[in-house]
Amino acid sequence: MNPPRVLFLGRTTLDVLYWLDSLPAEDTKAYARHLQAAPGGPALNAAITHSLLGGKSLLISAVGGGPWAAPIRSELERHNLDLLDLAAGTAYEAPLCTVLVNAANGSRTIVNPPISTGPLRHLGPAWTAEVPASWGDIPAVVLSDGFFIEETWALLASCENAGAALILDGGSWKPGTEQLVPLLTVAICGERFAVPGHAASPDAVFAWFADQGVPYVAITRGAQSILCWDRGRRFEIETAKVEAKDTLGAGDVLHGAFCFHFAQEPDFEGALRKAAAIATRSCQSLGVQAWAKQTAEQPTR
Ligand SMILES: Nc1ncnc2c1ncn2[C@@H]1O[C@H](COP(=O)(O)OP(=O)(O)O)[C@@H](O)[C@H]1O
Ligand SMILES: [Mg+2]
Repeated sequence: MNPPRVLFLGRTTLDVLYWLDSLPAEDTKAYARHLQAAPGGPALNAAITHSLLGGKSLLISAVGGGPWAAPIRSELERHNLDLLDLAAGTAYEAPLCTVLVNAANGSRTIVNPPISTGPLRHLGPAWTAEVPASWGDIPAVVLSDGFFIEETWALLASCENAGAALILDGGSWKPGTEQLVPLLTVAICGERFAVPGHAASPDAVFAWFADQGVPYVAITRGAQSILCWDRGRRFEIETAKVEAKDTLGAGDVLHGAFCFHFAQEPDFEGALRKAAAIATRSCQSLGVQAWAKQTAEQPTR
């Protein structure tokens, strides 16, 4: 069987993760138990997860230049991930993000550099001419993390027009989210997602997406159950109780794994259950990739 193919659009960063006994107080010095520098950002983490599961991933993102672009590019190559760079030929520099993980509960606190305001390339329906021929045509599943909507809007519309299922990773409300929503088949949001001017409750979020014609919606809530909405049917997916070591990117892992399963069979609940189990496993080790190595090393019975 051919591997599932998924197009991932959105943000790429280099994350420097400090694993700390507790979050430092102001004006103190702390020593981390572990340090790890690895590419991150919702779309890239999801694409890496999809590749680790055996899928073929294409990333459309801004990587550009600057001191952090090279390690990002070599990681993309290591995962055999094709990149269409929105920052090619611009002054954009890949962002370096600082992540403080509290070893006590795995929580992550993130500091981003200032938001870059320089212009990026806009991609239209002819984008397929720019990707390696081996990639093929428009895939059945496309995920957007809500970054770079302005630059990728025409491309997203062309994918939807060609019959692709568009999936939103709704970490938070972003400029352009309202433009993207009418095109969506699935919205998987974090509990911080709220529509401006509307209540932040799950019911209000479900009702708003339903109004826009989105058939499938889920709200992930960390260690709590996932709230789900399938064309009017509400259900929950329980989250297994584990000792969380690092929850950075848990949502991204869930989105990448959901795409992998949904691209093979468009069964919302089934794909989400499998993805949730993988996301929980990813919280039990440091970084967003170690779960796959541990899975591979587990003896098969
Ligand atoms: N502490 C945890 N224990 C077990 N599973 C978790 C934990 N935190 C996250 N997960 C898994 O990862 C999914 C996404 O996590 P969440 O924290 O909602 O996303 P985000 O990465 O956006 O903060 C959850 O629905 C769950 O399946
Ligand atoms: Mg979380």
